[in-house]
Amino acid sequence: MQSFSFHNPTKVLFGENQIANIGSQMKRDKIDKCILVAGGGSIKNNGVYDQVVQSLEKNGVKWVESWGVQPNPTLDKLDEIIEFARKEEVQAVLAVGGGSVLDTGKAAAAGFFLDNIWDAYIGEDRVTKALPIYTVLTLSATGSEMNGNAVITNMDTKEKICLSSIHLYPKLSIIDPSVQNSLPFKHTASGAMDAMAHIFEYYFVNDTALSTLAINEALAKTIIESTDRLQANPADLNARSNLAWSSTLALNGITGAGLGFGDWGCHAIEHAISALRPHISHGEGLGVIFPAWIEYLSEKDPMRFSRWAKEIFSESSATFGVKHMRLKLSGWGMPLSLRDLGIQQDELPILLDMIVKSGTIGNVFKLGRDEIHILLMLCF
Ligand code: NZQ
Ligand code: ZN
Repeated sequence: MQSFSFHNPTKVLFGENQIANIGSQMKRDKIDKCILVAGGGSIKNNGVYDQVVQSLEKNGVKWVESWGVQPNPTLDKLDEIIEFARKEEVQAVLAVGGGSVLDTGKAAAAGFFLDNIWDAYIGEDRVTKALPIYTVLTLSATGSEMNGNAVITNMDTKEKICLSSIHLYPKLSIIDPSVQNSLPFKHTASGAMDAMAHIFEYYFVNDTALSTLAINEALAKTIIESTDRLQANPADLNARSNLAWSSTLALNGITGAGLGFGDWGCHAIEHAISALRPHISHGEGLGVIFPAWIEYLSEKDPMRFSRWAKEIFSESSATFGVKHMRLKLSGWGMPLSLRDLGIQQDELPILLDMIVKSGTIGNVFKLGRDEIHILLMLCF
């Protein structure tokens, strides 16, 4: 088991009716005015917006609003929000939505103090402080509600990059799973795949951190079982709650304890896919890449992947585990190939260039250009 440092400063309020507490929590922190960051309108349709603003009003917290953060959020929108937040002299960011909204809000909180937030993304500047960040989560997937990451796409350079900093952890996140009943199943399934991928990015690193591996297996199995139940009944609150909490835990530091930094090769490849085609959701891209990655690497080192197959899918080998995983994803209606995602064969060289340009692929299983090419062909 590797040495590790675990520090997660985010306070979580979890469960039905917790959104009503957002105003009092901010008032207690002496926040007079915040910027409410939101997406394309889902929070108006499912009542989350009303709950949030009623609570702010009741507690005398003033706010301005910035709408229109898109899935796979962009730098242009982020810059616009930073400028608005400065003009309005807000004291905090309140992000209400899925991972894209949360990431944009978190990055804006840091960008508030920087000349150019993108410089922090490309390593030419550092985040040293941020406005206090509050979130109300409406889609369980990314773990953004309890981690220090913010993923943004620069449409000009076609780069999708993750910025990580201790200053990007939300001060408070509210997770009310019942507000996720309004999600189309496609988003629930894609979120479940993303959460599983966060677990799998750590899982194969070593086999000595037994407590963490056991936690990770339990989380992955809970994610699969809860998603199956939600496919049958989207209003199953217990399944929503277990999926939500498992997704939060999947990327809040716990799943990596003793397993080092993790691999993150599949995430790097997926980020290039959704940078090339922003309509592709992160979870859908991972659902195509991850099984192929396991298939490819397990041929070289089957033993390393056999525990995964046995513990998570009750299968005797990695080959059967991968088959089982693909069957599960297709049963959830998810794409299984790059072709299913709408990527054409003549785009593969462009994609390959984008992946290689993004840096070393994989921290543990380092993949060179030729290997990535084989992997892309495997999932085409
Ligand atoms: O924009 P609105 O109208 O809110 O609609 C959203 C969006 O269209 C909708 N939605 C959210 N909650 C809903 C809802 N619709 C109905 N009912 C609800 N309760 O869902 C759509 C997708 O939302 P999005 O926020 O894009 O999804 P997700 O949470 O999967 O976030 C994906 C982004 O997070 C990044 C991804 O790369 C991607 O950009 N990631 C962030 C990470 C992190 N911060 O740690 C790690 C991840 O690996 C990932 O890279
Ligand atoms: Zn992810």
